[in-house]
Amino acid sequence: MRTNIIHPGADELVYEIREIVEVAKKLEKIGLPIIWENIGDPVAKGAEVPLWIKEIVVEAAQENGSYGYSPTKGLLETREYIADERNLEGGIQITAEDILFFNGLGDAITKIYENLHPDARIIGPNPAYPTHSSAEASHAGAPHITYSLRPENAWQPDLVEMEDKIKENENIVGILIINPDNPTGFVYSQDILRSIVDLAKKYNLFIISDEIYSNLSFPGSGMKKLASVIDDVPAIAMRGISKEFPWPGARCGWVEFYNRDKDEDFNRYTKSIIDSKMLEVCSTTLPQKVLPRVMSDDRYYPYLENRVERYQKYSEYAYNVFSKIPELIVHRVQGAFYMTIVFKEGILTPQQTLSVSNIDVLNVIEKLLDNISLDKRFVYFMLASTGICLVPLSSGFNASHAGFRFTLLEEDEGKFKDNIDHIASCVVKYLAS
Ligand SMILES: Cc1ncc(COP(=O)(O)O)c(C=O)c1O
Repeated sequence: MRTNIIHPGADELVYEIREIVEVAKKLEKIGLPIIWENIGDPVAKGAEVPLWIKEIVVEAAQENGSYGYSPTKGLLETREYIADERNLEGGIQITAEDILFFNGLGDAITKIYENLHPDARIIGPNPAYPTHSSAEASHAGAPHITYSLRPENAWQPDLVEMEDKIKENENIVGILIINPDNPTGFVYSQDILRSIVDLAKKYNLFIISDEIYSNLSFPGSGMKKLASVIDDVPAIAMRGISKEFPWPGARCGWVEFYNRDKDEDFNRYTKSIIDSKMLEVCSTTLPQKVLPRVMSDDRYYPYLENRVERYQKYSEYAYNVFSKIPELIVHRVQGAFYMTIVFKEGILTPQQTLSVSNIDVLNVIEKLLDNISLDKRFVYFMLASTGICLVPLSSGFNASHAGFRFTLLEEDEGKFKDNIDHIASCVVKYLAS
């Protein structure tokens, strides 16, 4: 090419959760049955969307208007419904004008970072959800700046480190939290949220709170939305239907802007996000039509409670199994449908292996072992030996700890327990090898 066509942030775009699929697919072709524990799609894991939700979708699909464009910000009646629901919960009050729909939160995440000034940085959690960390890093053409969620402290964020980094890096303009968190299952207490709001006030920052799992927090987790503590700090909360309905294929999520009137720069920035959506015209119409009808149905919250109860029960089982292995750090999950297990420092070595009975599978895996992190090595051996597809913590989630993530999405309880037992026995064998 006559001049460089590669974006400076091109190398920052990494999504290991899907990349491991390429390897697993290769092994599947050779004849290894795969148990997909990597991807957070309840439907792919066999969840039946309730019939009454499907009936509402069918009804909306019969309406001609569902096939047209919607307003750029989203259907007014849907935004009004969301604003009313938000305001009923207390905390900051918003209007339909403070809501902007996207084609899934993936789209929202891209636009939020794309429209930031290239020098402006958002500090986010480590471990990180890779769509956020990659998009932020790509926008800046530099590695994502992170604060630690400490596994040795039940995944609580290190607020001292967060403040130190904010102090030393003038370019940090915002703090990202994911609540409940993917991949750790941690839920921020209201006190921690308040401390983060205080930091934002002190250093004149805004906050982004990804709350896609907020209606999947466990009873007793103390889950509170950012809206409950935000005061007059500018912020963006993010929600969607991918995990809740669950309908990830609808590509439907939205953001709520808080306190746009409190800061001129923030207001201008949010206008640029809305303008960039305008260039695309609008987001998917059908799921927006469906949203208020589903969420206002009397069956909706009991349905979610049912699912959450199952995730909690599964996570307790996994907690009991993994916490018996002294080389691991394991915490109870408080929300969402993932669990992350950490290997204690220095436990993994480049010599550890698991036996792989299929020689062709072994050949594929052996070619991938050079220069990879030790937890990715474990995940590859796990995959080759058992067909169970996990996500390595360090490369999958931009994390400084070694470990792995699995989901709580298996529909069959017996199968889930068998998988957990199998993973745990392989961990023990691998560490002893
Ligand atoms: C924390 C978090 N945010 C956003 C998303 C993306 O959701 P969507 O399907 O709305 O793009 C995910 C998907 O796994 C997620 O875990």
